[in-house]
Amino acid sequence: MLFHKSIFFALYSCLLFFSCRKATVSPCNEDTSLYSSADFFIGTAINVDELVFNPRYREIAVKQFNSITAENIFKSAYLHPKPSRFFWADADSLVAFCTTTQKRLHGHTLIWHQQLPEWINTFHGNKSEWEQLFKTHIQTIVSHFKGKVAAWDVVNEAFNEDGTLRNSIWRQHLGDGYIEKAFIYAQEADSLALLFYNDYNLESNPTKRHSVLSLLNAMRARGVKVDGVGLQMHISIMYPDVQAIVEAMDEVVRADFVMHLSEIDISVNPFGKSIELTPDLMKRQADLLGSLVLAYKKVPKRLKYGMTFWGISDQNSWIRTTFNRIDYPLLYDDGYLPKPCFCTLKNTL
Ligand code: G3I
Repeated sequence: MLFHKSIFFALYSCLLFFSCRKATVSPCNEDTSLYSSADFFIGTAINVDELVFNPRYREIAVKQFNSITAENIFKSAYLHPKPSRFFWADADSLVAFCTTTQKRLHGHTLIWHQQLPEWINTFHGNKSEWEQLFKTHIQTIVSHFKGKVAAWDVVNEAFNEDGTLRNSIWRQHLGDGYIEKAFIYAQEADSLALLFYNDYNLESNPTKRHSVLSLLNAMRARGVKVDGVGLQMHISIMYPDVQAIVEAMDEVVRADFVMHLSEIDISVNPFGKSIELTPDLMKRQADLLGSLVLAYKKVPKRLKYGMTFWGISDQNSWIRTTFNRIDYPLLYDDGYLPKPCFCTLKNTL
């Protein structure tokens, strides 16, 4: 009797052991990386403080992604704090990180109306002094990172929702041609880096998207090097629907621009209600991400620059701080555990 009991126990332990082992190799575990599951780059925006001080954050960044965009430290306010002073230390440390860990580095961003240093916001110069400032700013930065940054968001968010040009400080002082000039100056400083125009709502707003594509086409027809378009993809489970996103991608492909899904996050609470993160919300988020991936996989390989998520954990998302609302837009939860959208992403890639 004792013998039977011990055999039963041994068999039961074996079963338990193998079922547990099976659980740890489920298709959604983190043992293999996201990027090794894809035939295009999988990126994340990086907060350098987290990278230095949070070991779990760093572990995920290294393990799961093979493309890195600085969330903030490559912006003008950080890199060019005074008229004749550039601050390279933080950005260079990210370059070193990318070199050591063999990540592609994406430069975000050269010309934007936000996160400008105070001295540019208050600069009093004539047109030629503005031109000089603009050219020096672009070319000093691009030259510094030549050969280290694979691609630049040369101009970011230059259009309004109605398809007109945003009356940014750059347009006010340099005129409508500033976008084209920015691409020319960037190309002069690094002829090998890919050059992107990056904007939000291009996936949902055809009017804005048509204006952007028509300007980029016209620039290209004039011989200016413009390689690609960044569709930021700050989307939500409510809007836009997948069909609208597919149409946007089709248009970019037809226009023959390299496509970067450059700042992906999927809000589950766009109206800022008092919510809990239910399984249903997580499933809707995961399903939308799955559809996004399936659509992106259909883009011809030569036009796929990659998919970049705008952060790692919900805890780090700009949405919470900027809009002061509860939201859970990213792949990892507040405890840095993968969410259902991570699993769907991994299984769909
Ligand atoms: O660096 C200061 C710090 O010294 C200060 O103590 C702290 C107090 O609030 O603020 C810090 O600066 C913040 C910075 O992020 C770094 O954390 C700014 O206030 C804050 O406005 C800034 O937000 C960034 C935002 O761009 C600026 O518009 C977000 O992190 C960043 O995710 C967001 O990214 C943009 C993309 O570049 C372009 N597309 C839209 C996207 C989301 O807005």
